[in-house]
Amino acid sequence: MGSHIEDEYRSIMTGDGSPTLSLPPTWELMHADEGAFTERQYLYQPLVEKAFEAVPEPVFLSLGLGLGYNELLIAFEALERGRKPALIASYETAGFLKDAFAAWLRGAPVALTPVYDQITALYAVRYAQAPAAAKSFLLDLMQSDRFRLLGPIETGEPSAAHGILFDAFSPKTCPQLWTSEFLDVFFDRAAATPCFVSTHACNGKLKRALKKNGFTITIQDGFGRKWESLWAQRNLIRGETMKAISEFRKPDFAIDALFYERWSPRVFNGEEIPDEVLNKLFEAARWAPSCFNEQPWRFLYAKRGSEDWNLFLGALVEMNQAWAGSASVLIACVSKKTFTRNGKPNGTHSFDAGAAWQNLALQAHLLGWAAHGMAGVQYEKAAADLNITEDFKVEMMIAVGRTEDLQGKEWTPSGRNTVESFITKGKWDK
Ligand SMILES: Cc1cc2nc3c(=O)[nH]c(=O)nc-3n(C[C@H](O)[C@H](O)[C@H](O)COP(=O)(O)O)c2cc1C
Repeated sequence: MGSHIEDEYRSIMTGDGSPTLSLPPTWELMHADEGAFTERQYLYQPLVEKAFEAVPEPVFLSLGLGLGYNELLIAFEALERGRKPALIASYETAGFLKDAFAAWLRGAPVALTPVYDQITALYAVRYAQAPAAAKSFLLDLMQSDRFRLLGPIETGEPSAAHGILFDAFSPKTCPQLWTSEFLDVFFDRAAATPCFVSTHACNGKLKRALKKNGFTITIQDGFGRKWESLWAQRNLIRGETMKAISEFRKPDFAIDALFYERWSPRVFNGEEIPDEVLNKLFEAARWAPSCFNEQPWRFLYAKRGSEDWNLFLGALVEMNQAWAGSASVLIACVSKKTFTRNGKPNGTHSFDAGAAWQNLALQAHLLGWAAHGMAGVQYEKAAADLNITEDFKVEMMIAVGRTEDLQGKEWTPSGRNTVESFITKGKWDK
């Protein structure tokens, strides 16, 4: 049923009456032959919806422009919601597809015009919107640099995206996109938080790269003959818990949600924390400010299941041991009491260590993890067991883990005093 248009590509009609292409040399179909349009909806519509729900102006990254199915989907979803993405970045190896789509948006006749028109018409019916509206929406985005048609992903620096439409060809056709080296770095650079990823592909390297970068993976039914598809998300907080927090915690003044969505759970799922995540937590701590830039903080840690784990857990008071045992890593935050430069007492060593701990906790939250600070520590035992010397103070311990949804469990997020209650303009009244 395929029709040969040029040597560069063949246009094929798929099972639901929507077109796809196949490109040389493998002639692999760009979309499912059971139905390109239906497949796009199946794989990517939930992702586009989630991204628009999660952030006011999401960034989308599409790996493969193909026939513009993904970009048109985003445009129609945006129109329906009266919203605009901050950016759609589409990476495409086949230069003629980029040129043809851009030319079509500008209204120039191209060989693929009937194909693009047909796809747009299908979406227009589905969304009850005028085809021309989506076309001019994308053109506006392109002219304001909010829709970028880019070359192969391997050569670019991806933007931090909230929605990644991982629409790569198979490892056979595009082996360079399926190496661990590429995937690990790609998700590190390309994913913002929150971020949603959807793809028809689910191989081990992809799953490992997503896990390393803090994603939770769900394997779903595949479309058509495909067995499986993959959904991954890196949320600030998951599902019900997120809802509970946003219902309970409302800032009086508009600030970044990071500050009031961070919280201290007492239920963790014990999953292994990758070194990549742990290193990022310490990196965030590293950049805290401190008096004379002394950086008096020190962190000792033990991962769950490691040799020192029981030593760290045993240093907590019993009440904390009861729940912190389900964490992925326990960290002791220690600070140096004197300045290294002159040996004199440092009056702000605890204060500075506090800034470092807060950086760590916020970074954990941004990566979809949670850090819970504990002063319920057997301090003398901790200092002795962890070999902390006299010049250092054990400040607190920190349990880091991934929290499960707390649906059905007793939990109310903590509130806060009003700003008014701790602010005074000028001096205190006598
Ligand atoms: C220095 C410090 C010590 C804490 N000690 C404990 C502790 O020993 N056990 C515990 O369950 N929570 C402890 N917490 C957590 C606090 O109870 C929690 O941060 C506070 O109630 C605010 O809630 P939120 O972090 O969820 O916003 C501690 C927090 C800090 C910053």
